[in-house]
Amino acid sequence: MDRWTAARIKDQSGRSFVVTGANSGLGFETARQLAAHGARVMLTTRSEAKGQAAVDRIKSESPDALVEFRVLDLADLDSVRAFAGAITGSAIAVDVLVNNAGVMFPPRALTRQGFESQFATNHLGHFALTGLLFDTIRRGNDARVVTVSSLEHRGGSIHFDDLTGVRSYSPRAFYRQSKFANVLFALELDRRVRAAGIPVRSVLAHPGWSATNLQTSAPTGVMKQLMRIGNRVLAQSAEMGALCQLYAAVDPGAESGSFYGPDGLGELRGHPTRVRPAPSATDAETARRLWELSEELTGVGFGF
Ligand SMILES: NC(=O)c1ccc[n+]([C@@H]2O[C@H](COP(=O)([O-])OP(=O)(O)OC[C@H]3O[C@@H](n4cnc5c(N)ncnc54)[C@H](OP(=O)(O)O)[C@@H]3O)[C@@H](O)[C@H]2O)c1
Repeated sequence: MDRWTAARIKDQSGRSFVVTGANSGLGFETARQLAAHGARVMLTTRSEAKGQAAVDRIKSESPDALVEFRVLDLADLDSVRAFAGAITGSAIAVDVLVNNAGVMFPPRALTRQGFESQFATNHLGHFALTGLLFDTIRRGNDARVVTVSSLEHRGGSIHFDDLTGVRSYSPRAFYRQSKFANVLFALELDRRVRAAGIPVRSVLAHPGWSATNLQTSAPTGVMKQLMRIGNRVLAQSAEMGALCQLYAAVDPGAESGSFYGPDGLGELRGHPTRVRPAPSATDAETARRLWELSEELTGVGFGF
């Protein structure tokens, strides 16, 4: 895997990908590279205008790219159901779902269904989306679910007794919770598909620190200023940051139940390599508890 780059992506003609949050940052770079390698790519975006602009940018580089967009708000389970229903009610194939969209460090806010916004967007929305699309994905060719977590998962835990932060909320603690949930979910999905003998790979990735809109769109105050400086001084490009999730999505060597992050110092930058999740994020009992809670909160099951 040494110094894996997008040049190592084989022809993806005939393969279909859904990339969430694909108008910006890592999602856009992922969609752009997949499309440039012949894949059919559905970008999900929060508005028609953002979707059209992203598709136009990709087509200006690759005029024959098979790209389209659909609107999806992961913080709203009605939107997730509508999006998934439109896919499953059509002939659209999904070989690979890239659960990429995310929000970081917003002030406390609740979603339409009453969930804390980072947990809802980063975890619950993707949990529901994966469950609703799972029958389509499992029929796919080299089927995969890629979940994008973060180094921040290491400081995370699930606040089972205060999931919405009503008693105590810190933007960072709740971002960490959501990224910890991403790891628990992807590893539990891997365990469950293996146990059921279903040929779907569940692969985790993180991008180190990559300069995108993530650091400035939701944080406020001093945190926003620090993030802006960090993006200039410490971060790698979004193009480099997308490599780990691209590797997870397409490379034959990417293994289910594995986590891929950058190979540089502190996993902050570099080329994809296998990395270790925090030991607490590999706890099967916590993962089972989160899975069952997520089924209850979203009303979505996986049918196995
Ligand atoms: N950049 C990093 O250093 C870094 C580090 C660790 C992990 N990550 C993870 O990487 C992933 C991608 O982030 P990024 O860095 O590329 O940030 P980004 O440039 O801000 O992109 C995030 C994407 O998610 C979308 N999104 C936000 N809330 C959404 C919602 N409710 N429903 C649907 N889509 C929503 C955004 O849409 P809008 O444009 O409409 O806001 C955007 O398309 C995230 O999961 C993030 O946690 C990033």
